Amino acid sequence: MFKTILQKYHVKRQFLITSLKYSSQIPEAPKQTLLNSLLNLVNYERAYKFHHYVDGNHKKLGPIYRDKIGPVSAVFLNSPEDYQKIFRYEGATPRHFLPEAWLLYNDMRKCQRGLLFMDGEEWQYYRKIINKIMVSPYSLKDVVIKSSFAAADDLSKELKIYSDNQQVIPAIERRLYRWSIEVMMSVLMGSTWNSYKQIGRIEAEKLAGILHKVFEISAKLSLLPAKYAMKLRLPVWQEFVKVADETLDLTRKLVPQMESYGGDGLLFLMKQEGIQDDNLIKIVTDLILAAGDTTAYSTQWALFLLSTHQNIQDEFAKQVSTLEVNEIIGNSYAKGILKESLRLYPTKKNICGYDLSGGELILMSLYSSGRNPLNFYQPNEFIPSRWLRNEKGNFDGVHNSYGSLPFALGVRSCVGKKLAETQMTLLLSQLVKNYKINCSNATKIDIKLHLISVPSEPILFYLTKR
Ligand code: HEM
Repeated sequence: MFKTILQKYHVKRQFLITSLKYSSQIPEAPKQTLLNSLLNLVNYERAYKFHHYVDGNHKKLGPIYRDKIGPVSAVFLNSPEDYQKIFRYEGATPRHFLPEAWLLYNDMRKCQRGLLFMDGEEWQYYRKIINKIMVSPYSLKDVVIKSSFAAADDLSKELKIYSDNQQVIPAIERRLYRWSIEVMMSVLMGSTWNSYKQIGRIEAEKLAGILHKVFEISAKLSLLPAKYAMKLRLPVWQEFVKVADETLDLTRKLVPQMESYGGDGLLFLMKQEGIQDDNLIKIVTDLILAAGDTTAYSTQWALFLLSTHQNIQDEFAKQVSTLEVNEIIGNSYAKGILKESLRLYPTKKNICGYDLSGGELILMSLYSSGRNPLNFYQPNEFIPSRWLRNEKGNFDGVHNSYGSLPFALGVRSCVGKKLAETQMTLLLSQLVKNYKINCSNATKIDIKLHLISVPSEPILFYLTKR
């Protein structure tokens, strides 16, 4: 069922499995019985724990093994050395794996999409331009810092009322979504965001609501063969089409609206590079889609870790309390907090889509390598200081930093890494400067695989004034 989709999106170049230094004897995961496979399809709870299943297989079978996801054979890796090799051999225009539902939707609506869905020369052309603005030389840096700080300060002030009333923050997920979209919109506009902000916040709120729904429904659909859901016109497919339509309609309306204000942000810089009209809309749409849930959930995990490690939170607050915004971004402890929470909770737990010469899918098990004692000392512990360099320039407590690749590596790695890091660092630091972050859940929070890693139950954060 997934086979055609996977074949269609496989990388064409040859990648020799022998370069991974494994013989042709790759261990196989025990065959799933038909009953087990069917249960995986219908029982969401089982699918949610897929990361534990993969990690368990690596523990039993080693750093490389073969397994079937439905009818598709895939090779699972969890060794940092192999990750590096994969990216070294990836070629100039690698393809990556995408949710089947979105591919079917794009086909059905004859919809042109941005960086996430582009391939080949077209992808390379636009990726080069966006790299120049957002990666290196990173001409957008000042706009990103300003936008991120303003949005962090706004959210911190908005939450004051819950601190005053000693109340659990309601709808934290939704708020973080809105914050993440608001930062993206502000970065797109730059200096004109302030004059648009009143309208912009309403649009961001709408977009957050729809995107959250898109994410929820695509996660459900990812557990089913979307092709059959579409053919059978299942309610979940129809719901998906409805929210996908709404999202794209909204971004189609938003981009020209933001453009009409002018400004010196990402929109302006992209236009300066010749990206116009429909091309501008499709690139921006995918940036917003890629930014929304990953940043919102990664931030939620970081808040969770801070709330359950008060001593680390206090140290973080102490370190950043007297620093200027630019200094906070460069602060090593703040960097350690981010790296550590993305290591323990990589939102994308498997990076996939790279092909062996035999035509197989490769999945890199980030959750497993991030928590492997071969790569990290006390791997299940939240220790931001492990990322501080010692006098020899090495990290104590990190045996192999490539064990944690939350933004992937190589030419197709995350284009929004710097933006995500800046906005997360400034929000976390602004919150710990003003409040003690606590969490009142009685039960243990685990990861639930829901397209990306989400908490197994709503996290009940509450704030007390610092
Ligand atoms: C903590 C937050 C984030 C995480 C963990 C994250 C992670 C990733 C990862 C692992 C990939 C590679 C996926 C693959 O190859 O299959 C990726 C790609 C991408 N990310 Fe992010 N991301 C984050 C935030 C953002 C933000 C804020 C933006 C917006 C600018 C963004 C835009 C993109 C785009 C457009 C791609 C596709 C790049 C391409 O195919 O050339 N991401 N992200």
